Amino acid sequence: MKRSVIDILDLSTAEIDALLSTAEDIMDHPEKYAEKCHGKKLATLFFEPSTRTRLSFEAAMMELGGNVLGFSEASSSSASKGESMADTAKVLSCYADIMAIRHPMAGAPFVAAQNASVPVINAGDGGHAHPTQTLADLLTIKRKKGTLENLTIGFCGDLKYGRTVHSLIAALSRYKGTKVVLISPKELALPSYVKYENMEPAGVPYTETTDLESALPELDILYMTRIQRERFPDPYEYERLKDSYILTAEKMERAKDDAIVMHPLPRVNEISVAVDKDDRACYFLQVLCGKFMRMALILKLLESAKEDIVPAENGIVREDVMCKNPACITAKEQELVQKFRLVNAENKIYRCIYCEEKVQLS
Ligand code: NCD
Repeated sequence: MKRSVIDILDLSTAEIDALLSTAEDIMDHPEKYAEKCHGKKLATLFFEPSTRTRLSFEAAMMELGGNVLGFSEASSSSASKGESMADTAKVLSCYADIMAIRHPMAGAPFVAAQNASVPVINAGDGGHAHPTQTLADLLTIKRKKGTLENLTIGFCGDLKYGRTVHSLIAALSRYKGTKVVLISPKELALPSYVKYENMEPAGVPYTETTDLESALPELDILYMTRIQRERFPDPYEYERLKDSYILTAEKMERAKDDAIVMHPLPRVNEISVAVDKDDRACYFLQVLCGKFMRMALILKLLESAKEDIVPAENGIVREDVMCKNPACITAKEQELVQKFRLVNAENKIYRCIYCEEKVQLS
């Protein structure tokens, strides 16, 4: 098995810092990197729509002198014939040196990494995680704020299904002095695992509110998100919640002068276009930073692919429980071995190793 990046916490803080430095060096000296991936191929396996992430990976590989192959919708892949993620990963390993996978089911890239013989990058799995967006976000924050420490960040919108939020909170929880403000309708609150297994063990103070305007003045960073329509089991619930928050130029008057506004994009209408003219709006810089961070990550993983790694132990695991999350890859691929790892011994809380769904067992 090769080193893969499925979760942002697969990278240590030192590795993230090194990726940030490489990305900044690429920005300053692109010519040094123009042939680094000559003769290498990146496969982009996108089972779910994407503009930025897929094209960003492809542009990244091209700017490194490599080639790309892949598909951009599930219907044009053998998944539509019922092929398993494991088989797709084994097949693609015969064609490509590295692969980036986006999938609507949580845990699909993890399954691919277990079965591929080349590195796998999670390019977004369901409502679960999106580590390379986090790398883009961290570089944006570093360039605009000069540091990743002592920042108060407000996450606003769909914190339940917004995978970019889950990964960025996990990453920022490891930096000194991070404070988090969670701004969402109650129905779209942050999943419990991000609170109890990321923020609380790291001692990150957080507050929860439904009110954007009253939270704004204390924020160094406002991270807006789209309400994730495609993940709602009930379309009427989406209609009810879709316009929960709209950031306008008028509301921005309440924000600090040196605050920044981020958004992973696509935006629907949660940031009015008038805000784009505000110097504090950074969402298009995030797009640019994403390409450079993906270049740095591709270089790192191709380098580490020269050696095999031993798969990580998952600690105490139970295999006698079924995951109840309908958006977990195990719901679609029933031959996968169900596995739950112990995350809280005192309260006997286990989480699905694929999607992090919680169960409490006796
Ligand atoms: C995000 C995603 O796909 O999770 N977009 C992205 O990758 N830049 C956010 C979203 O779709 O709302």
